[in-house]
Parts: sequence; C-alpha cells; structure tokens
Amino acid sequence: MTGRPLIIDCDPGVDDAIALLLALASPDAFDLLGITTVAGNVPLPLTQYNARRICQLAQRWDVPVFAGCPRPMIYPLLTAKPIHGITGLDGAALPEPSLPLQAQHGVAFLINQLLAAPEPITLACLGPLTNLAIALIQCPDLALGIDQVVIMGGSLGPGNVTPSAEFNCYVDPHAARVVVEAGLNLTCIPLDVTHQVVTTPERRMAFAALGTAVGQATAALLQDYGQRDAERHGLAGSPLHDPCVIAYLLEPALFTGRPMHLAIETESSLCRGRTVATPDLTELTPANATVLETAQADGIYQLLTERLAKL
Ligand code: BDR
Ligand code: CA
Repeated sequence: MTGRPLIIDCDPGVDDAIALLLALASPDAFDLLGITTVAGNVPLPLTQYNARRICQLAQRWDVPVFAGCPRPMIYPLLTAKPIHGITGLDGAALPEPSLPLQAQHGVAFLINQLLAAPEPITLACLGPLTNLAIALIQCPDLALGIDQVVIMGGSLGPGNVTPSAEFNCYVDPHAARVVVEAGLNLTCIPLDVTHQVVTTPERRMAFAALGTAVGQATAALLQDYGQRDAERHGLAGSPLHDPCVIAYLLEPALFTGRPMHLAIETESSLCRGRTVATPDLTELTPANATVLETAQADGIYQLLTERLAKL
C-alpha cells in the first residue's frame, strides 16, 4: 500500500456504497486505514452491516469497519429509506460479510488514528458528521493529524430534505457546525455539484456491462435508487452524491471550486441545516472551506467504470 492514508466515515446508503467501491478499487491511491459508520440513511446496525457487505463484495477483508454514533448530537435521527430502501442497499443481492465488526467504537478509532498518525490522514465524510464532531469535541488537537477533510453535504441552492437543507447537514446540523468551525483544511461538495453527476440509463448499463459481480451489483443498486430525487429536482437521473468525494480525491481536476465562508444554521425550524456560504470574504466571513461548484460528470463516470472494473 503506497497511497495516501484515508479514513472513510459513511452511512451506506447506495451512493455511499458506490463511493466505498471506488475507494476499495483504488489501493494505488489510498491506504484505507478503516471505515467508520454512523446513523444516517438507515440506522447504525444497518450502516455498519452494509459497509461490511460492500467490503465483502470487493473482497477487501483487510479494511476494518467500525460502528460510530447511533444518533445525531441533538436531534432525533431522520433516515432516508425512501431513497435508499429499507435495508439501505435494496435492489442488489449482496454477500453476507465474513469481515467482523470491530469492537472499538468508531469515534475512538478516529481519535487513536489521528493522534498517532505518522503522516496526516485524509478524511472522506459521506454522511451526517456526528462521528467527526464528537471526536473533535473530545480531542481538539485532532486537527494536527488531519491532512484534509472532504465532505459531501450542504447546498447553496435548494435542499433535498427541506427547501433549505441537504440531508447530511439537516440530520445533524450541530455536528456540521462543529466541523466547519474547527479550522480544518476542509473541502465541501454540496448538492449543487452532485446534481451535475446523474446516473443516466447509459451510465448504469456501463456498470452492468463490466460483467463482474461488482459491476452487476452496482447496476442493480442504481436501478431504483434516487428516482424520487430525480423527479423532484428535474434531473435526468439519480444524483451520485458520495462518489464525488472519492472522485475528487482521485482526480481533483474533474471539479472546480473556490474558497468560501461556510456557516451552518442549527436552530431555525424553517432553515435547520442550511449551509450559508459566501465567496465574499471579509473579516467577519473569512474563508473556512473550499466549496466545489462544478463537476465533469462524463469524466467521473469514466473514472468509476474504469476503477470498478479492477474489482
Ligand atoms: C446525501 O444524503 C444521503 O442520502 C446520501 O448518501 C448523501 O450522502 C445527499 O444529500
Ligand atoms: Ca451518505
């Protein structure tokens, strides 16, 4: 393993699962130290199980999987079963995992790894930010062990849970706030970008045409995923949110973005989870994140198809 050290924090979830496959298919780029899971798209017992099923599908038994927080910091858990199905990964016949769940709590794993890191670690955050926020609260020095944090979350335009808010930031806005205020080297990939990366029938068929177990499972997972999202937002297919995080780490040139000031609304009943972002940088609104604005969808699907073909 020679790639950059990486921990993925996620709530699989169909698009999380495809993001995991992309990372698991890229040992040249990533030394994947572990996968931490959180309650989000489905409850924690399912997200940790689904992460292990995806490792089994990829035949990567070397990657430890941890269960983290079972609920957001303050609000009760809201799941996204209408988008991802009751199990979180409906639609594909996935193998039972032989990989056991690690006994250590996901937050303890994050803290131990980041404090002991011989070289700073990259974090890819694909779900509500509860695990990282709790780790940062327990141990503010963690930032020293972090190279960069890339999150999928937020929206500069309309949300996908409420008119104001995107799912990951809506579910745990307090955690998102802790993370954006922690002074990290942070990149944020909001809905405005992931809605440019949609799964057309042709792109889905390209996965099926790989003729491998991973290709077939990916196509099957995408069969019904996110139809409701596509219809509601007038998209040509379901948006592939979380794989954008891994694609960005692999090929940042597929994206553009710029420094912005990012803030999270935690309290308002109408605007809970709203990401308030501005590129107008002032003393009151200094840059605290790179916010991505565009993505090259053809290049991302080509990267995905080429990489998944290796599994
Ligand atoms: C985000 O919410 C979840 O449903 C997806 O997995 C993604 O992380 C998109 O709003
Ligand atoms: Ca997710």
